[in-house]
Amino acid sequence: MHDFNYKHNNLYCESVSIEELARKYGTPLYVYSRNTLINHYRKIKEAFSLINPLICFSMKANSNLSICRTLVKEGAGLDIVSGGELYRALKTGVSSRKIVYAGVGKTEKEIEIAIRHQILFFNVESIPELRLINKVAGRLGIRQKVAVRINPDIKARTHKYITTGHGENKFGIDFETAKTIFLNSDKYEHLNISGIHVHIGSQIVDAEPFIKAIERIADFIKDLEQRGAGIRWLNIGGGLGIIYSNERPQTAREYAKAVIPVLKRAMTNVILEPGRFIIGNAGILVTRVNYLKETPGKNFAIVDAGMNDLIRPSLYGAHHEILPVRSQSYAGSKKIRTFDVVGPICESGDFLGKNRKFIDLKQGDLLSVMGAGAYGFSMSSNYNSRPRTAEVMVEGTKAKLIRRRETYEDLIKTEL
Ligand code: LLP
Repeated sequence: MHDFNYKHNNLYCESVSIEELARKYGTPLYVYSRNTLINHYRKIKEAFSLINPLICFSMKANSNLSICRTLVKEGAGLDIVSGGELYRALKTGVSSRKIVYAGVGKTEKEIEIAIRHQILFFNVESIPELRLINKVAGRLGIRQKVAVRINPDIKARTHKYITTGHGENKFGIDFETAKTIFLNSDKYEHLNISGIHVHIGSQIVDAEPFIKAIERIADFIKDLEQRGAGIRWLNIGGGLGIIYSNERPQTAREYAKAVIPVLKRAMTNVILEPGRFIIGNAGILVTRVNYLKETPGKNFAIVDAGMNDLIRPSLYGAHHEILPVRSQSYAGSKKIRTFDVVGPICESGDFLGKNRKFIDLKQGDLLSVMGAGAYGFSMSSNYNSRPRTAEVMVEGTKAKLIRRRETYEDLIKTEL
């Protein structure tokens, strides 16, 4: 499932020891396995080979250029949500015909740059946005393809901050309004409204909500076709869940098997936008224990990574496994103790894990926060004026620095 394994009680990424990487590059440190990354991309590609979709990696999960470029070289497109992600995407060398652009708040400037670069699709989230894209496309004399993002009003079992396909969420357009758009598409003379987009949420572990959403959309497409609207593309978003602790998510193959028959009914080209599934388990965050602090109420392992480096536990109460980089086998004299693993940030919400058991944990030990590849670095910040971490990618026996650690000068370089 991933390439982080113990050899002689030491954690390795592929054939490189994590201890060695921590010594060389310092901590906190994000470490990625190139093999795990590529394998997960290929898993989806192979699972869907019957319909050969365009797989656009969702850059918000991890927008490091080396990571995106690795996937682009494998044939992936990119799913973006901002002018900044477009800028990064273009730096990877991806064909702009493989870029899809979602998000409820695209600015006129962002829209203009994306049209100039002739991206494949805007995934449009409201009528005012549709009007604006039409206006800008007219000004530029370019006919732009757009997909209407549907909000299918489906509840997916996941954290409330990461559901997006429920009627109360800010995303997408309801079926009725979407129908009006398609049936009056000649009103938008500079647009080719030829796709439908749907993304119901993230870290979804079963196929059922996906199937429900796609079924509703397949019916919708059929209905519109009878009325003469030509929908050529269906983008089913991302959202595939991964294993953080004891989830039993559907595999790519199970997911494909469940949704392909429904997709076939829609008879369109298909786009997927996976993020977490591809990069989630391909990355870890390595951190060092700076202090062990015992209080009457709790034991704390105070580590050098904080919520600014990995915010998922603080923000969503997300669970990440935390493993010792040097594993201790249990021998009678050694003590198993329970700790809250916390960072140095001045907030009580700054924790990476609660009530975690370790054998003989000591000051100076290295810990590995697992499954940190997606929404880890990409959501990190400089809170408490902490320089952001370095990132390293391992390929076999080699490790490459793919982002240097920020310096104190970096912290102030944009200030006047
Ligand atoms: N497509 C769209 C339109 C999206 O909004 C997202 C994620 C994706 C694709 C990729 O979803 P994935 O395959 O990664 O589930 N920060 C949260 C997750 C937020 C997801 C936002 N949208 C977390 O750390 O769990």
